[in-house]
Amino acid sequence: MKENENELVDLDEEGNIKEENKKEKKIKKKNYTFAIMVSLIFIVIIICASNLIIRQFKKSNQIVLIIADDYDEMSKKAADIIADLIKKNPNAVLGLATGSTPIGTYDELIKKYRNKEISFKDVTTFNLDEYIGLDKNHPQSYYTYMNEHLFKHIDINLSNTHIPKGEGDTKLNVQNFENLLNKNKINLQILGVGSNGHIGFNEPGTDFGIGVHDVELHNKTINDNARFFENDIKKVPKKAITMGIKNILDAETIILMASGTKKADAIKNLMDNKVDINIPVTVLNIHKGKVYVIIDKKAASKL
Ligand code: F6R
Repeated sequence: MKENENELVDLDEEGNIKEENKKEKKIKKKNYTFAIMVSLIFIVIIICASNLIIRQFKKSNQIVLIIADDYDEMSKKAADIIADLIKKNPNAVLGLATGSTPIGTYDELIKKYRNKEISFKDVTTFNLDEYIGLDKNHPQSYYTYMNEHLFKHIDINLSNTHIPKGEGDTKLNVQNFENLLNKNKINLQILGVGSNGHIGFNEPGTDFGIGVHDVELHNKTINDNARFFENDIKKVPKKAITMGIKNILDAETIILMASGTKKADAIKNLMDNKVDINIPVTVLNIHKGKVYVIIDKKAASKL
């Protein structure tokens, strides 16, 4: 007998390790490797399965998808959710969007106000964004938009409405708006989505962690928005000030609306549960609160 690698092995008459011992050692080694491989595969399977479960869980808990027949139905459904919140919490803080998408929703909210269903007396609002370099009273400024499409028709106290300033010192305007947002929790943020997936003016590639900032608008966005500027690209402002994705994610609940086939790709990417910095809207997949995705059939055409 001789001690070999801490094991006792049998020796033959010439003092060599017996053949059976060598074989036994080989088999042991093989079994060992096999066991390690099986355990590794098992661990990989468990990780994949738990990821799948988490993704399913996230989807069913965070995103409520509502597919409406058309733009009008989409607008009504969104307005109902907003009105319910205001009824429950008359001091609600709303995050507002501009563009074509929420106009129908604002019309519905105005109707509800006129029917005395809701009052905006104690509601506070923060808008997502504003063009830089456009006079506040310009017909296409978001300040004018909000007055024309909502504020002048309801009983909101204008001093409770906040829109980023697009004129003057941009750095100061950014800081002031960020400070305001930090002092106020948005209960419900309304969002539209750009055909390139932007939310607010957070264009593809924007860091998900940044707050209020100024941005250069992408060509796609400038082209899309030319329709508000007599289809003249030269008239579309090239810069804007916007809430960052961080501010948007701070909202308790989010309503994202989309209408038309131009938005179908962005919606498909969102509903595929992607999280991609180049498609900003997909960040809603990691929002901690509830996200209502209210879209018409055309925007849902790629689902
Ligand atoms: C507007 C805004 C933008 C728009 C988006 C979609 O405040 O933040 O992100 O929601 O450009 O615009 P529409 O609704 O005109 O297609």
